This record gives sequence, C-alpha cells and structure tokens, in this order.
Amino acid sequence: MLPLAVESHWMTSSPTTSFAPLAGDVTADVVVVGAGIAGISTAWELARKGLDVVVLEADRVAAGVTGHTTAKLTALHTLAYSHVEETFGRDAARLYATSQQEAVDHVATVAEELGIDCELERCPAFTYAPVHRPDHDVRAEAEAAARAGLAASYVTETDLPYAVAGAVRVEDQLQFHPRKYLLGLVDDLVRRGGRVHERSRVTDLKEGGPCVVTTESGATVRAADVVVTTHYPVFDRALLFARLSVKRALVIGAAIPEAAAPEGMYITTEDNTRSIRTAPLAPGERLLIVTGEHVDPGEHDVLDHFRRLADWTTAMFPSARITHRWATQDTSSLDGVPYVGRLHVGARHAWVATGFGGWGMSGGVMAGRLLGDLVTGAEPEWAGLYDPRRIKPLTEAGPVLGQMAKVVRHFVGDRLTSHVDSVDDIPPGAGALTRVDGQRCAVYRDPEGSLHAVSATCTHLGCLVGFNAAETAWECPCHGSRFAVDGAVLQGPATAPLETVRTGEPGKD
Ligand SMILES: Cc1cc2nc3c(=O)[nH]c(=O)nc-3n(C[C@H](O)[C@H](O)[C@H](O)COP(=O)(O)OP(=O)(O)OC[C@H]3O[C@@H](n4cnc5c(N)ncnc54)[C@H](O)[C@@H]3O)c2cc1C
Ligand code: FES
Repeated sequence: MLPLAVESHWMTSSPTTSFAPLAGDVTADVVVVGAGIAGISTAWELARKGLDVVVLEADRVAAGVTGHTTAKLTALHTLAYSHVEETFGRDAARLYATSQQEAVDHVATVAEELGIDCELERCPAFTYAPVHRPDHDVRAEAEAAARAGLAASYVTETDLPYAVAGAVRVEDQLQFHPRKYLLGLVDDLVRRGGRVHERSRVTDLKEGGPCVVTTESGATVRAADVVVTTHYPVFDRALLFARLSVKRALVIGAAIPEAAAPEGMYITTEDNTRSIRTAPLAPGERLLIVTGEHVDPGEHDVLDHFRRLADWTTAMFPSARITHRWATQDTSSLDGVPYVGRLHVGARHAWVATGFGGWGMSGGVMAGRLLGDLVTGAEPEWAGLYDPRRIKPLTEAGPVLGQMAKVVRHFVGDRLTSHVDSVDDIPPGAGALTRVDGQRCAVYRDPEGSLHAVSATCTHLGCLVGFNAAETAWECPCHGSRFAVDGAVLQGPATAPLETVRTGEPGKD
C-alpha cells in the first residue's frame, strides 16, 4: 500500500528554515541565485574566501531537488567513466574522477571541521548488472574507473539479498543526510556574514559592472558576480534550453530491520534504473531508499509508476514496510558532463552550475569548489572539462535536434489535441486541459468538487502543461517547470505563475 502523503524523509527529519525575504536594495561581492546543494556549496566556499555573499532562494533552502534526492555521495556515477573516456579521452576521465572524489572527501572534512552531524557513513558504491543481463558494460566500467584513478574493481558478490550478474565496486564512498549537512553550511555561512533570503524569487538579471538581479518584489542585489544555481537555469543566454533534458524519478522509503539492510549503495545499469541505499531510522531499523521509474514531467500515470516501484521494493526486500514516497527531477547535459562555469560565451561575471544528470551530490559540491575558484580568479585543472561553453558538434547535434523536436511537439502538437470537452468531464481529484471561453485552460477539480482553472500555457516558453495526479501539480514537459493548482510556480525555469482563469461556474475560480 502506498502512503497517501508525498513527503521526503530528508524534509521531515530535519529542521525547517525561516530567513526573511529580500526587502530592499543591497550590494554584495557575489549574489548566488538558488539555494540547493550547488548554490549553498558555492556561497559557503566564497564566504570562506572572505567574500561578501548574498543568497536568494525562491522557496526554502535545500528544499528543492536537493531536499528530495537519494543522497548517495559518490564518484561512481553508473557507467560515467566508460562514457567520459570515450567522449573526451582518458585525461578527461581522470579529471572527472579526481574532481568528484575530491568533492566526496571534502564533505567529510568540512562536516568534521564544522561539527555537522549529517549521518555521514563510509561505504562502498556499486553499479550492478541485474542477473538476467550481460555484464560486459560493468566489467568495462570497472576498468575505466580504475584507469581514471578510483579504487574500483569488478566483483560478482554484493550484500544485496539477491544475485547480480556482476558489478563495479568502488571503496570509501559516502552516504549522508543532505539537508543536515547543508543547513550546517548555511549556519556557518551566516556566521561568516553571508546573507540568506528565502521567498525571494529572482525574475531578472542584468549583467555588467556591477551585475543586478531583481526579485519578484522589485528588490535588487548589485554585485560584482552572479552565480545561477537554480537547478534549471532561469536565465538562458547560453541557450542551455536546447542542451539540457529533464527527467523525473520516483522514490520509495521503507522501514527495514537493520540485519536485512545492505551496507553498500547500489545502482543498476538499466535505463529504468533502480538506485538503493539505506539511512538511519530508529533503533534496530533503517530506512531503505529505492529510486527508479523515470517519467517525463506532466506524465499522467505517475501513480502506476509509484506502485511498480513499491512492488519491486517489497519483492526484492520482503521485510520492507513502505513508509514514504516522494519524487523529484534532474537535468542532464547532452554529453553527460555537468555545465559548471561561465553562463555564456561573452560572460565575464555571470556563472552557472547545472546538468548534474542524477549525480548532483558530489557534482554540486564539486561545482561549489570549482565556482569558488573561478570567481576568485583561480582555475583548477578540470575547469575546461565542465566549461558550459564547450560545444561538441558531433555528439550534440542529434540530442539538440531531439530536444527541439520534443519542444515543438508539446508547443504545436498539444495545441491540436483537445483533452476534455467540458469541465463537467473532470472528476474530483483530477485535472485536464479544456477550453473555457475559447482559451486553453488547465482545470483541476478538488476532492470537494470546486474547480481551479489556470492558463494551460507555460509561462517559460509557451508549451502546454500536463497534470500529475500523483503529486497534484501541473508540469511542463518541455523544460520541467512545475506549478501548483492555483498556478503558483513550484519549480523553474518558469519565474511567473500560470494566469488564473474564471470558469464562469458560480462559486468557482
Ligand atoms: C530521484 C533522484 C535521486 C537522486 N539521487 C542522487 C544521489 O543519490 N546522488 C547524487 O549525487 N545525486 C542524486 N540526484 C541528483 C541530485 O539530487 C541533484 O543533481 C541536485 O540535488 C541538484 O542540486 P541543485 O542545487 O542544482 O538544485 P536544487 O536543489 O533544486 O536547488 C535549486 C534551488 O534554486 C531555487 N530557485 C529556482 N528558481 C529560482 C529563482 N528564480 N530565484 C531564486 N531561487 C530559485 C529552487 O527553489 C531551489 O531551491 C538525484 C536526483 C533525482 C531526481
Ligand atoms: S516551456 Fe520551458 S518549462 Fe515550460
């Protein structure tokens, strides 16, 4: 049975925050826009170097994708080393490994230095081929990861309660509570004079000397440098929209007896992957966290995917008692390496970190370290590997065209499709697209029967939204913007809400 509430364990097992919104015009050395793991890590690294930093967060700190992740902190990223070696060469794979492992170790050092209790546990990380699949790709990955410098080996034994065909094993990785770690960093950032403002959505950026960012309320920050860490970049001078894709993934949490809990962290090689770890829960019990079932934003059958993931969890771990479900999404770059560096070709003081491809724990910390250096004029060896201005015409042409075709389909194609003819066809708890006075609307009927109608046109670039009934949200399939049923922005790149529409029914919106 699935839990009714969609709630992340990380969110419910850590304190809430309450920083005042930005109320007036201020100045700083650097303004960081977006306070997930990438933004908080960057702000903290810069404050530690003595810079005056302002952080602007649309919602609450560490409550976006970072508050809903699986939080495996590892340099083993499924089959990344075979891919990076093939696409960029062996030196690049070595730089990838060094920068990601450095980020993993950095978290342990900082947590100890600041005395942050973030449930840090050392354990091995595995990428495994399921028993019915060939294992040649994990064999090749073990070799590539070892060549890149990781403590990697090929194994056939794991501590999972079922057999695998073969696996890459990398020693000395970490799992942690991401919010407890990041809230500790935020405390230290504030102690160092950093200013953090929540409920301060940024709607405009003017680059120059200084750069100026403006929030919804009209308040501004003038700063020499601006760092955009909003997950999907809300300002797109580099046309990253064509070079980023978004996938949602679902998470199941289940209480499991400590004796039945695997010690390692696991991920499968399949497209519709399964990712597994455990976390402390209660005496004698651990929380088994299983991630999988990739879906597009706006897909309507998300509940079925949740059921499939829950069934898989209890089939593989018969003692598991399901307690949680939640979901989130991540962006992927076209060539599988995150974009961290200057925001666009002409940028001098505007920076970005995005495209972590499901590996933004080590990736976000690495981005904080890299941007901390770049903003202050240093250039680590791996800066070029992550530079967003890189273009690989041969590898990127196909995916760019695919991404554009997808946008055109949702922009034009969906406009040709009628969803329901009348709001009367929408049952309680459901949402659908329909026309109200000729206008294409996204209409939700709540469990009490009241209608909530908003424009169906995403305020980002105009695609049509779809209803996710499992999480009661309108989602845009093009770049993943998400909206509440009253149209409020839940997740960017959109910065403006969906417009409210009056349905004309008495007592209704
Ligand atoms: C299901 C799932 C499981 C995952 N598991 C792992 C894992 O085990 N290990 C791993 O390494 N990675 C994992 N990842 C990936 C990782 O969670 C992400 O890459 C990472 O959390 C992204 O961090 P971020 O800081 O870029 O984004 P976020 O955490 O989303 O932070 C961006 C912040 O910007 C704010 N914002 C947005 N727009 C604005 C605006 N206009 N103005 C101001 N603020 C704004 C948002 O509110 C948000 O707080 C997983 C991803 C998914 C989807
Ligand atoms: S059109 Fe880009 S997120 Fe909707």
